[in-house]
Amino acid sequence: MEEASSPPMTDEQPKEGKWRNKRRNICIAVLAVVVILFLVILILALTVFKAKRPVITVKSMNLTDLGVSVDMARMRALLNMTVGADLSVRNPNVAGVKYKDSSALLGYRGETIGDAPIPAGRISAYSTEDMNIAVAVMADRLMSNPRVFADVMAGVLPLTANTKISGKVSLLSVFIIHVTSAVSCDINVFFSNRTIDYHQCTYDTKL
Ligand SMILES: *[C@@H]1O[C@H](CO)[C@@H](O)[C@H](O)[C@H]1NC(C)=O
Ligand SMILES: *[C@@H]1O[C@H](CO)[C@@H](O)[C@H](O)[C@H]1NC(C)=O
Ligand SMILES: *[C@@H]1O[C@H](CO)[C@@H](O)[C@H](O)[C@H]1NC(C)=O
Repeated sequence: MEEASSPPMTDEQPKEGKWRNKRRNICIAVLAVVVILFLVILILALTVFKAKRPVITVKSMNLTDLGVSVDMARMRALLNMTVGADLSVRNPNVAGVKYKDSSALLGYRGETIGDAPIPAGRISAYSTEDMNIAVAVMADRLMSNPRVFADVMAGVLPLTANTKISGKVSLLSVFIIHVTSAVSCDINVFFSNRTIDYHQCTYDTKL
């Protein structure tokens, strides 16, 4: 009642104060939105867009159980062998990586001649896991390829070995990022000294 009847001078002051309050609230709200946006972008930048694929390294490979028998009359070669690979898989993420079941494959001229399972597992943040894989060649499959005989006679059998690790990284239990790493190596099996050469490894990695 008092305010209503007061002169314009005194009426304007609280109005101005209210406006100032309103303006301050809008400023705070805008600032809060900006800060939240900034934090969201920062978190995304540090997490989602920074999720890295596991790093596979081939530490060593060896050849065991090599058995060769050549049937000169029928131009056939029988082969037994097991290729062993010592891999390390490093998880460079701030969170653990859970990887799915996969396998290591051995190929000969485009044909799969052996595989070994890699069971699913988990690698903790920033840690490295060693994997020892042994792939036995399926002699019958190798035998059915007519080029084996010529390669055995030449003394070198070219093989490829490859494996892929696929998994997911769960960041802040909110962002789940799929990561895949693969490695493929060209191997030469030398019959003269029963060794393998595996220096041509290519690492294919993508998020
Ligand atoms: C391959 O392995 C099988 C079973 O172990 C054996 O019977 C065969 O003699 C081997 N062949 C060669 C060429 O070593
Ligand atoms: C060959 O490699 C496998 C797998 O890494 C390993 O377990 C085995 O001891 C190695 N054998 C030899 C003779 O080096
Ligand atoms: C085995 O023999 C091949 C060719 O005959 C040669 O290139 C390779 O260096 C030899 N490896 C070892 C370990 O002697």
